[in-house]
Amino acid sequence: MDGITIGIFDSGIGGLTVARAVHEAIPNARLIYFGDTARCPYGDRSPAEVRTFALQIARLLSNFSVDLMVVACNTATAVALDDLRQRCNVPVLGVIEPGARAAVRSGAARIGVIGTVVTIASGAYEQAIHRIAPEAQVFGRACPAFVPLVEQGKLDGPDVEQIVRESLAPLLDAGVEALILGCTHYPLLQSVIQRVAGPHVRVISSAAETAAEVAARCYEGFGTSRASLARPWHLFMTSGAPERMRHALRDWFQWDEAVGVRIVHVSTDALAVVGAQDV
Ligand code: DGL
Repeated sequence: MDGITIGIFDSGIGGLTVARAVHEAIPNARLIYFGDTARCPYGDRSPAEVRTFALQIARLLSNFSVDLMVVACNTATAVALDDLRQRCNVPVLGVIEPGARAAVRSGAARIGVIGTVVTIASGAYEQAIHRIAPEAQVFGRACPAFVPLVEQGKLDGPDVEQIVRESLAPLLDAGVEALILGCTHYPLLQSVIQRVAGPHVRVISSAAETAAEVAARCYEGFGTSRASLARPWHLFMTSGAPERMRHALRDWFQWDEAVGVRIVHVSTDALAVVGAQDV
């Protein structure tokens, strides 16, 4: 019997935070990842454009016969999850509901959410939180400066801390007790975000929560025998520079090609052609 193959995508390398958590939860599943670095950030684009990109990528991933797809991008989850679920013939999981559940579980009555302009404007976190905790107070804040920092590999230092401080000020003034990192790039800034927010604020990354859900779906849906089969390689595709992906995998995850990771470039032109048909 074949092992499990999980498709994961993001607008760039931020979704690697989810990929790593998924790998830790199901070490023997094969990961097929796509990071759309050439078109990143998605967070300042129109929802219609993000939806088009997400459907193109889903089409690309479906060529690899994935058993399950993870939208490791809050922006794409916020605006395209329903479309993807309707058009894909495999389960599609997003990152917003797991993050919302973790925040509610923390017991916080005042919950801050930071994300891209599109994610915050969509109100998707607020809705997800209020579905399970109608009484919770939710404070959203777009932090458009964060993604460029991560994509450039600037993860700490005085300049980064200053930007984080200015961006979080309204939420901290509002007295949030939990802060959801509503963008898969933000966990890479987590130590500076936690330092600025202070020890009394519970900083929540949806990566681990999403991975737990992916693992549960895989073990329930496909059984432990499939989930435990050894798969020797993973594929990481990027529309940006493969070197950037290589560095991110090596620096942040200690993964390199020697451990069965393949990194390939897929141009956005090719993506538009491959992904032009219906999923
Ligand atoms: N990783 C994306 C997210 O989770 C943000 C980056 C972008 O704006 O493309 O929303």
